[in-house]
Amino acid sequence: MRSFSCFARIATAATCGLALAPMGAGSTDDARSAVFGVTLPTGYRDWRLISVAQEAGSLNDIRAILGNDSAVRAFRDGTRPFPDGAIIARLAWQHVPSAANNAIFGQAQSFVPGAATNVQISIKDSRRYAETGGWGYGQFEDGKPNRSEALLGSCAPCHARAPQFNDFVFTHYAP
Ligand code: HEC
Repeated sequence: MRSFSCFARIATAATCGLALAPMGAGSTDDARSAVFGVTLPTGYRDWRLISVAQEAGSLNDIRAILGNDSAVRAFRDGTRPFPDGAIIARLAWQHVPSAANNAIFGQAQSFVPGAATNVQISIKDSRRYAETGGWGYGQFEDGKPNRSEALLGSCAPCHARAPQFNDFVFTHYAP
């Protein structure tokens, strides 16, 4: 059953009953994304590749899904639920045509990453994030945490719609 209290509506740290560290003015809490208090993991850019994806429409981006060692191991072994400490990073860039590559191919066919848009993080901590299936979520632009409670409140309700066997995760490992 997935009737967690904060899946039903826009979640805040309070409505999700999350035990976040107290926010001190001007402290290192500045690194925390809204609602879940997730920070950008050190070294995530060097993590291994789980898969890639492309979103059209208003997002119109191209993305890479990376995982820390724990997440990659679980993906490869098919371990579900994911173990505590597993972190998945979704990096996205604008999806832009490459004139330079198209000139080589002799026709318009090449798309490459443009400017980075944002990095989204899913981190498994079954106790701290018990109210949201054990997952905490964060979003970062230019390395800075997104402070929007509405945005961060939208993550868990939608990820609750992922196939149940995949533990709130949409991505499948690309072999
Ligand atoms: C409307 C539904 C929806 C919302 C809201 C949403 N996601 Fe996702 N998310 C998806 C889907 C679908 C995918 C897989 C496709 C893709 O990567 O483009 C995904 C992929 C991901 C991934 C890669 C791992 C996985 O679960 O597949 C991460 C990390 C992630 N989202 C984090 C977040 C964060 C953080 C937020 C909130 C700021 C968020 N998502 C909001 C639907 C959603």
